[in-house]
Amino acid sequence: MDCYRHLLRPLLFRFDAEAVHERTLAVAAWVGPTGQALLRHFYGIPDERLATDIAGLHFPNPMGLAAGFDKNGRAMGALAAIGFGFLEIGSVSAQPSAGNPRPRLFRLPEDEAIVVNYGVPNDGAAVVAGRVNAASTHGLLRIPLGVNVVETNTGRPTDPDGVVGEFVAAARHFCHGADYLTLNLNCPNTTAGISPFDDAGRLRELLQALAAIDGLPPVWLKFTAHCDPLRADMLLQAVAPHRFIAGFIFNLPPGKAYPLRTPASIVDPMPGTLCGPPVRALMDDTIDFWYQRIDHTRHTIIGSGGITSAAQAYRKIRLGASLVQLYTALIFRGPGLLRRIHAGLLQLLDRDGFAQLSDAVGIGYGEGTPEP
Ligand SMILES: Cc1cc2nc3c(=O)[nH]c(=O)nc-3n(C[C@H](O)[C@H](O)[C@H](O)COP(=O)(O)O)c2cc1C
Repeated sequence: MDCYRHLLRPLLFRFDAEAVHERTLAVAAWVGPTGQALLRHFYGIPDERLATDIAGLHFPNPMGLAAGFDKNGRAMGALAAIGFGFLEIGSVSAQPSAGNPRPRLFRLPEDEAIVVNYGVPNDGAAVVAGRVNAASTHGLLRIPLGVNVVETNTGRPTDPDGVVGEFVAAARHFCHGADYLTLNLNCPNTTAGISPFDDAGRLRELLQALAAIDGLPPVWLKFTAHCDPLRADMLLQAVAPHRFIAGFIFNLPPGKAYPLRTPASIVDPMPGTLCGPPVRALMDDTIDFWYQRIDHTRHTIIGSGGITSAAQAYRKIRLGASLVQLYTALIFRGPGLLRRIHAGLLQLLDRDGFAQLSDAVGIGYGEGTPEP
């Protein structure tokens, strides 16, 4: 029996979503080295066939924790121990931020989805960097650690003239502790998906400023999912001179315009952006579109959006994602999910005759591909 789904989840879902999340992180933060070793023993399913090397980093498996779950890097040890192949903490901004007013996190159990309107609350780069540096100095995590950076949400519209400085200031804090950085260019909850970096000139300015930082780790750009060839060309031209750009991640478009089981009368009053299974098709199409356009010798895609099973992770990989991330499914399926996904991925590799999962990246998911 799945204890999380049948016993723990009904109990947790009786309480406010954000309060439960805070408590979960507090418990996870409290788990020390012995507890982490036990978690690793219980949840780990290490297998070299799932490992991959990207941007000079070794990922023991391709399943990462998406940004937003551990915004402040409070529970990295326990999260690393439940089977993730990498963690992305944040989003973190140069200055601390309280985010948007509560309530700002809503569950849609019928769709296994979340509506989020956090507005990137976080402790600020200096405080979070202290935790990241401590974890990296002691080699605690054993998996790559990414930090997702964003401009500070002050509650006022983003100042286009200050935004480059905001990103640079935040990024500088993590140059020695993070294994990679993600630039959250279009946060749906703070800028309604519109970004000062939709302007090619400002994006170039940002990339030039980052290029001047000593010790900058590999950088992934996270921007609103779209399949617009002109915008894609603009972005690819802007990144072309910069070898530190390792690839791309897609943010969810703002809003909730998906076919849902949850009645509109419940969903409509919830402010924010929808995450989880209803976004899956849109995000898969986006991976497919971008994989056709990027230079595979330089850039990789980290795919996310609605992964709840090995089959869905594998589909994103076959469409072109070298790594994948999840968040919402952890809330609905619990920590045992990673172990099930790893086992499922290994079965899919055997079924399709691949020696390594990385052999499946971008081979496509045509009509003839058998469904698992
Ligand atoms: C509650 C919540 C908070 C999030 N916060 C952030 C964030 O701070 N920064 C960010 O880049 N993405 C954030 N995301 C988006 C996730 O990183 C991920 O891209 C998205 O949820 C799609 O994956 P999923 O369908 O598996 O949840 C958040 C998602 C959720 C559900």
